[in-house]
Amino acid sequence: MTKTIFSGIQPSGTLTLGNYLGAMKNFVDMQDDYNCYFCIVDQHAITVPQKKNELKKNIRSLAALYLASGISQDKSTLFIQSEVPAHAQLGWMMQCIAYIGELERMTQFKDKSDGKEAVSSALLTYPPLMAADILLYGTDIVPVGEDQKQHLELTRDLAHRFNTRYNDIFTIPEVRIPKVGARIMSLNDPTKKMSKSNPKPKSYISMLDDPDTIRKKMRSAVTDSEGGVYADAEKKPGVTNLLTIYSLCSGESVESLTERYRDSEYGPFKEDVAEAVVSVLEPIQKRYEELMASEELDIILDQGADQADRTAKKMLSKAERAMGLGRGRRR
Ligand code: TYM
Repeated sequence: MTKTIFSGIQPSGTLTLGNYLGAMKNFVDMQDDYNCYFCIVDQHAITVPQKKNELKKNIRSLAALYLASGISQDKSTLFIQSEVPAHAQLGWMMQCIAYIGELERMTQFKDKSDGKEAVSSALLTYPPLMAADILLYGTDIVPVGEDQKQHLELTRDLAHRFNTRYNDIFTIPEVRIPKVGARIMSLNDPTKKMSKSNPKPKSYISMLDDPDTIRKKMRSAVTDSEGGVYADAEKKPGVTNLLTIYSLCSGESVESLTERYRDSEYGPFKEDVAEAVVSVLEPIQKRYEELMASEELDIILDQGADQADRTAKKMLSKAERAMGLGRGRRR
C-alpha cells in the first residue's frame, strides 16, 4: 500500500532558504511515491502573537510558495489547518494524555519561552497539536528538518500511549530528516540555525529575496580567517554551511565542490553560491507572483480542505469512540 506523508509549515513570516532546503524541496521530491498531505499550520502560528492582517497575508503567501516550489494539487493535498476542525479537536485529546513534564522538556518550548514574561499556555501544548496533525491521517512518514526531531519523538510516545491505553488506532509515524540540509545555519552566526523569526534580515535568505539582495547577503556571510574551502562543521561552520547550500542548490556533491574550490578565495566562492541560490529561487518567485495574482489558490485550498476533512473526520471519530467521548455515533 502507498505510504502516507504529512508535514506542516508555520505561516509566521516569509519562508527562509532553510525551510526550503530542509523541508519543502524534499516534499516536492516525495509527491510521486507517497500519498501526501501538506499543511499550512496557522493554529501553530498563533501560539505567539500575530498581527491579523499579516497572518492572513502569510497564509496565502505560504500556500503560493508550496505550489510555486512544485507541490501539485493533483498529487498532494494542500490545506490550511484551521479549516479542518478535527486538528483542534484531536489536539485537545492529545493534550489530555500528554504530561506537563514531557512538554516542559521540549527544547523549542524552552527557547521560545526563555526570559519572556507572558508565555501563552499553547506554546507549552504545541506538541500535542502537532501530534494530532500527524496522527489524523494515519501518517507513516514525517519529513522535517532536524529541529523537529524531538517533537516527532513525543508524537510517537503519545500515539503509543493512546494505543495501549484505549485502542490500537494510530499508526506510529517515522521521522525523515534529510542527510544534507537538515539544519541550514544562519549566515551571520553559523553556529545558530537559519530562522524566519530572527530579527536580523542578514542572518537569513528569504525565499522572496530578489537576486541582488541574495548576492549582498551572501557577500556578507560570516566565514573564517583561515582560508580554504572545505567542510568542517566544528572549525569552519560558515564555509560548511555555504557548501551545503551550494550543493543542494546545484545538485553537485560537497566533495566535488570542495575539489573545485579548495584553494579559491572566499569572495568568488560566495559569488558562485549566490548564483546557485538565485537560479533556484528566481523561477519559484516568478510562479509565486502569478499564483498570488490568480484565483487558482482559493480553489486549490478549498479542495484541499475538503479532502483533508473527509479523512481527518474518520480518524477523529475512531479516537472519540476509543476514549468514550460523546454518544459513540457517527455524525
Ligand atoms: P517551521 O514552520 O518552523 O519549519 C518548517 C520546516 O522547515 C524546517 N526548517 C529547517 N530545515 C533546515 N534548516 C533550517 N534552518 C530550518 N528551519 C526550519 C523545519 O524543520 C520544518 O520541517 N512545528 C513545525 C510545524 C508543524 C509540523 C506539524 C511539521 C506543525 N505540525 C506536523 C510536521 C508535521 C514548525 O514549526 O516548522
